[in-house]
Amino acid sequence: MASASSQSVHRATTTAPVNIAVIKYWGKRDTTLNLPTNSSLSVTLSQRSLRTLTTASCSANYPAEDTLNLNGKPQEIQSSKRTLACLSNLRALRKSLEDADASLPKLSAMPLRIVSENNFPTAAGLASSAAGFAALVRAVADLYSLPQSPKELSRIARQGSGSACRSLMGGYVAWRTGELADGSDSLAEEVAPAAHWPEMRALVLVVSAEKKDVPSTEGMQTTVNTSELFAHRAKTVVPERMNAIEAAIRDRDFPKFAEITMRDSNTFHATCLDSWPPIFYMNDVSRAAVRLVHDINQAVGRTVAAYTFDAGPNAVIYYEEKDEELVAGTVKAILGADTTGWEGPFYEKLANVSAPGVSLDKIDSRVVSGLKEGVNRVILTGVGEGPISVQDHLVTETGEMVNN
Ligand code: ADP
Ligand code: DP6
Repeated sequence: MASASSQSVHRATTTAPVNIAVIKYWGKRDTTLNLPTNSSLSVTLSQRSLRTLTTASCSANYPAEDTLNLNGKPQEIQSSKRTLACLSNLRALRKSLEDADASLPKLSAMPLRIVSENNFPTAAGLASSAAGFAALVRAVADLYSLPQSPKELSRIARQGSGSACRSLMGGYVAWRTGELADGSDSLAEEVAPAAHWPEMRALVLVVSAEKKDVPSTEGMQTTVNTSELFAHRAKTVVPERMNAIEAAIRDRDFPKFAEITMRDSNTFHATCLDSWPPIFYMNDVSRAAVRLVHDINQAVGRTVAAYTFDAGPNAVIYYEEKDEELVAGTVKAILGADTTGWEGPFYEKLANVSAPGVSLDKIDSRVVSGLKEGVNRVILTGVGEGPISVQDHLVTETGEMVNN
């Protein structure tokens, strides 16, 4: 944290999680402030599996320009309006602290050196931008000793990437669309902490895409401008679903949570198909995952699993820990235990399971072969906490980058 000397290097380091929405953010009503057309809600995923680690540092001795190094590579932040917006907002907050208290070191006047690492593939549809911008905002806010709450900081992170505002908190997080033109009421807030419903698990099926998807920023604007279905979803469908899913979370009602999650993913992808020209994020492997979940639920006789898809073909399957064998056990039997990613902090109970929880003759055979062929990696994780302040800095006391 900041020391009194103006010559020294000041540092703060944080981790931040990925989040996967169950009510999707899709559409902006203001592209500069990054204000959404509808509220959204997500589950924060455990940082024991996926996390960004970011050190923010500043020093009067650094060269004049702010820098960001991501996974060992310098980033062109001077041309990234989003990163610049986050940094200038954070600096302004620090400056107001310094103006009110002359004894504070003038950190706002010093260049920033930010170093970050994602422990999972960047820009591969695994929500690195959400974890990345949340970590950046949290680390700089800590460096500057800002008193703002995570909810207040979400106003800044949202300008980096909309979904990033939900990664500043753990558990179950809503991003309220807000009504004000300046966006001051478009903020994320915790609906329930992870400890309220800690049994929630998420199994990510990583599907290789043949070609790059339409980036979400671009895709959502095409939808806003061309889809007739879109306005109905934003105005009518989402507000009802937000109320219903918040009640399901409050009551830990998995079947209700699951149905809303699946329906909202489907509605979101329907608005993509309704865009002109149409946008396809899901592919044949994604559709096999949809079918698998419906087949498992049908075979079990109750809803034990829910799928959701972001702007890409990867499937995220939510389930409760008590149904691990039925859901993840069946996926493991289909894909094989040697698929990359099974091992890890959430694998313990599943390690000794080799028989499918649901007999494979209850699953469409094309689903089994489609998944076997198209899923090249899994990530087994669960609901988790928000950003955590840590001491394993990626910048040394003298300002050099740590080589990992
Ligand atoms: P993803 O599907 O992984 O979110 P995107 O293409 O939407 O992929 O976002 C990737 C972009 O997010 C990167 O090019 C970078 O600008 C930003 N980003 C990712 N990780 C970080 C990080 N750790 N720190 C800062 N920015 C990051
Ligand atoms: C489908 O947050 O990546 O994952 O604000 O333009 O950076 P920008 O978009 P981004 O969009 C996320 C879209 C989504 C749904 C969601 O996470 O809610």
